[in-house]
Amino acid sequence: MKIKALNGFKDIVPGEVELWQKVEETARDIFARFNFNEIRMPILEKTELFARSIGEATDIVEKEMYTFVDKQITMRPEATASLLRAYIQHGLHVQKPIQRLFTIGPMFRHERPQKGRLRQFHQMDVEVLGTPNPRVDAELMAMGAMLLEELGITVSLEMNSLGCPVCRPGFREALLDFIEDRKESLCEDCARRSRTNPLRVLDCKNPTCREQVEEAPSIQEHLCEECGEHFQAVQDGLQQLNVQYSLNKFMVRGLDYYSRTTFEFITRDLGAQAAVGAGGRYDGLVEKLGGPKVPGIGFAMGLERIVLLLQQQEEKAEESDRIDIFVAGLGEKASEFAFPLAHTLRRTGLLTAMDHEGRSLKSQMKQANKAHARYVLIIGENELEQGAAVLRNMETQEQQEIAVSDSLSSDLLEILSPAQKS
Ligand code: HAM
Repeated sequence: MKIKALNGFKDIVPGEVELWQKVEETARDIFARFNFNEIRMPILEKTELFARSIGEATDIVEKEMYTFVDKQITMRPEATASLLRAYIQHGLHVQKPIQRLFTIGPMFRHERPQKGRLRQFHQMDVEVLGTPNPRVDAELMAMGAMLLEELGITVSLEMNSLGCPVCRPGFREALLDFIEDRKESLCEDCARRSRTNPLRVLDCKNPTCREQVEEAPSIQEHLCEECGEHFQAVQDGLQQLNVQYSLNKFMVRGLDYYSRTTFEFITRDLGAQAAVGAGGRYDGLVEKLGGPKVPGIGFAMGLERIVLLLQQQEEKAEESDRIDIFVAGLGEKASEFAFPLAHTLRRTGLLTAMDHEGRSLKSQMKQANKAHARYVLIIGENELEQGAAVLRNMETQEQQEIAVSDSLSSDLLEILSPAQKS
């Protein structure tokens, strides 16, 4: 019996790997323009690192980590915690007061695999450590937007502020009060977590939870003065850099370490897996992990999702240059017959191509393939004499004989039109 890769784990084979290389090269180029240096960390870390940073009451730590329980080590589910661990361990803050670091590599989460969601996936992760300056928040979002734009991917940027330890408790209380009256109508996860992590209720994807929180208090209205000013300055920065964004009061993110700015790059083209990239500020995290009091901000983009979007675009482009039918006349007589037939087919609206150079069947089939023809009509001289031609469906490879009569063009139109609609 053959052994297959694990569910949610994928090989990246030649033919596909080139697209990955292109994305990574573009990212490296952009990160260099923004003055980032590369760092690489190990895949295995102490479980405690993720529990302390991402948070005990998060989906990731509660149910998605690949942990060797007996050894208390975990395959990293994201890069930020490991990167900060390395930053602290090597005293990188001493070498440079502001560190701009990036890393690219595999992450592991035991989620339900589907399109754009894997168990081993890859992130391009960037972090700026050492400055609370709101300009850096705007600059990072602008860098993410620039990268996606250079790759030709259209996204919308959504942003929120989650406040700080001064103002978030007040918001949490207001939210708890609001949730308390609606607890009965929340999904199982939200009802269970509403005390430990009430903010998560705000971005639950369950439609009834969504309906319940529609009127929930907005964190943006509970920000303390400093956080309010910071939030406004980030928006001013985005405007200065001409980056389009919208505010989303429901965005709380699935990791607990965020403070102030959070953001997501959202696509409409990947169904439920809408986030191509996401991140935010985490001003207390380095300290929480035993390091100095250093603020930080970063984001990560999912390589699989970016590659999928690029593949979808390629398919669409191919689809749009597809022709409906290639008329292959073999020999002079057949070509003479094919010449006005192609014209009639074009008149009926079909995207039609033919060869005028008297080439062989093999060479004409090659041309048809190159033009992504849906059908090829093969007209040979002998067949023509017998009043028949062969119509080949290039997708299914099925062939059918078709009578050469006065109604040939309308017969073809009838056969081809369902393919046109699809
Ligand atoms: P995250 O939102 O968990 O944030 O993940 C960031 C991105 O990784 C997502 O937007 C998505 O593109 C990709 N991603 C996540 N899970 C999967 C999966 N199962 N399959 C495929 N792609 C996935 C973080 O990980 C934070 N560390 C980001 C950050 C950096 N915040 C500050 N600095």
